[in-house]
Amino acid sequence: MVNYQVVIYTGNRVFANSINPVYIKLVGTEGESCRTLASFTLISCWKTTLTICCQKSLGQLVLIELDKQNYYIIPKDDWFASKVVVKCSEKEVYTFPIYSWISDGETHAFREGKALKIFDDTSSPGLEARKQEMIRRSDKYNWDQYHDGLPYCIKSKGPFNLPWKALFSLTKLIELGFTAVTGYIQRCIQGLNDNHDNWKNLGAIADVFNPKEKETPVADFVQQHWEEDWLFGYQFLNGTNPNLIQRIKILPANFPVTDDLICFPNKKSNLDQELELGNIYLCDFKNLDGMPGNIINGKPQYLMAPLVLLHKRPDDTLVPIAIQLKQKPGEDNPIFLPTDSHHDWLLAKIFVRSAYFAEHQLIAHLLRTHLLAEVFAVSLLRNLPMVHPLYKLLVPHTRYTMQINVLARGGLIGPKSILSRSAAAGGETLFKIIKGALSETTYRSLCLPDSIADRDMQQAPNFYYWEDGKKLWDYINEFVEGIIQHYYKSDEEVQRDTELQTYIEDIFEFGFLSNTKSGIPQSFTTVPELIKFVTMVIFTCSAQHAAVNSGQYDYGGWMPNAPSTLQQPPPSDKGKATEKTVLQTLPTKDVTGQGMGTTWLLSRRTSDFVPLGHYPEEQFTEDCPRQLQKVFRTSLDELSAKIVSRNTDLKIPYTYLDPKKVENSVAI
Ligand code: FE2
Repeated sequence: MVNYQVVIYTGNRVFANSINPVYIKLVGTEGESCRTLASFTLISCWKTTLTICCQKSLGQLVLIELDKQNYYIIPKDDWFASKVVVKCSEKEVYTFPIYSWISDGETHAFREGKALKIFDDTSSPGLEARKQEMIRRSDKYNWDQYHDGLPYCIKSKGPFNLPWKALFSLTKLIELGFTAVTGYIQRCIQGLNDNHDNWKNLGAIADVFNPKEKETPVADFVQQHWEEDWLFGYQFLNGTNPNLIQRIKILPANFPVTDDLICFPNKKSNLDQELELGNIYLCDFKNLDGMPGNIINGKPQYLMAPLVLLHKRPDDTLVPIAIQLKQKPGEDNPIFLPTDSHHDWLLAKIFVRSAYFAEHQLIAHLLRTHLLAEVFAVSLLRNLPMVHPLYKLLVPHTRYTMQINVLARGGLIGPKSILSRSAAAGGETLFKIIKGALSETTYRSLCLPDSIADRDMQQAPNFYYWEDGKKLWDYINEFVEGIIQHYYKSDEEVQRDTELQTYIEDIFEFGFLSNTKSGIPQSFTTVPELIKFVTMVIFTCSAQHAAVNSGQYDYGGWMPNAPSTLQQPPPSDKGKATEKTVLQTLPTKDVTGQGMGTTWLLSRRTSDFVPLGHYPEEQFTEDCPRQLQKVFRTSLDELSAKIVSRNTDLKIPYTYLDPKKVENSVAI
């Protein structure tokens, strides 16, 4: 007789318990055990132990089968199992990661923890389980296209119709719901909901904006300094969208700034010299060119596609020196300058900040993190079984992404959604902008070091997004390199992995709509190629999302700094703007309230937040990957300490890429 000591771990989740009988069967290379009753009750965080006796050795254990009978003592009895450990002898211990809800009465197979590529999986029960798992998964996780020209997404009838594994925890659901409801009640009390009036003065906006109560010192600072040129420039580096700015040596042909317009501080320099010295930067919102403004409350809204020229001063601050609000130069499209009247210059900057809102929310945030992260997640779930090393590596970076995106499609971007009611770039324009931006998205622009090099931004001063981001990119890259090189010993192994190849084929086809211009790999041929792509996936889902998501309230809560829409056309000549013009141009009270509430909700971390590098679900059970995870975490902790220390000297602390504040996945 051979005895197998079995320990079943019920997970640490609300309602993880079960009071129905659970059966287990062990399957090895030499045979299988009887289906054995494990327990009638399984309690959250508890271990259930049992011994399974077999006539002879089962050989190497390949998988376990679990089934939970439903006797409906209580109407719904879902059980969350985290793992099962089976001990044959002191030296022979097998761990089976589960981390799944089991709710039906079906039999579910779970593979032993050692990661196996398809050609390593030689046992017949293993191969059969692999095949069945992928049949079930590709049935559950299907591609859908929400709108022509957008990346494909998960097919779902609604945010709560997704498979269990893809749903928010109860904690997250309650906390998000609470923040949304309290925000709504506050706006009702402040009289903002359904109030289409314009603001009478900026002080009235300040009365409903309470960053101190919310303990957001950056938002408070932005409210006080939003009109200052240095903060306007600073936000292109460290605000919510650090991916637009570039250093230039030649002015674009459609932005005819001449030397006589610009007065440099020391008066000894001129534009050509400053361009040559590398002190001139450009932000070009050409993605928004030709996009019609939305209609809100029956009124046309205005969305510009500005060009902004910035100068790096001797004190290393970056300040705007010229703004043209439309792409095509002409008499009705003046070049605004800091020497213009206060309100002319302020209004020009407000039009830029409103374009920044659209570019940030639709392209940098929604498309380049949320929608692409969902493509990476769906392709992973459709193509790679749990036992595959890449599944184990990437599945923590898919947590909650599908549900937050289904919610966003319903409430944020769809018809009658928040953006359709409050953004100049809302409605059909939103889809046009995303479609255009996706067709221009390149693989290089998603890989931070390449993106920074292509924009010649390596030497930009006070560029904390890059300072912290390059370290994060390198640490993620080292970690991924360790894992991939452990499992792929040659390029030939990469080429032979048919599951890996369909994973990237789907990303190319459904994510980038087979656009060869994007440079996205259509297959993997070498180990370094695979390492780079996986680094980009993890960076996009964690760090990049944090960089463009976490500062939404800091920089966008104070509406005049990030107006989601503008009610008046841009000035076609100078000298006419007044304070009244500014107030008539800014959004109405209801739009302001909606923006404050939404940015507050989307900037919040919920208490079940999992920081980058933390893997509470132990997908990997082997020593090497677990050791690599430890080293990764240590590097991230050291980086976090350095960022905290550096931030004490900054006027505005840059915290978005502090690894302790970066979530593993796109989860909000
Ligand atoms: Fe987000």
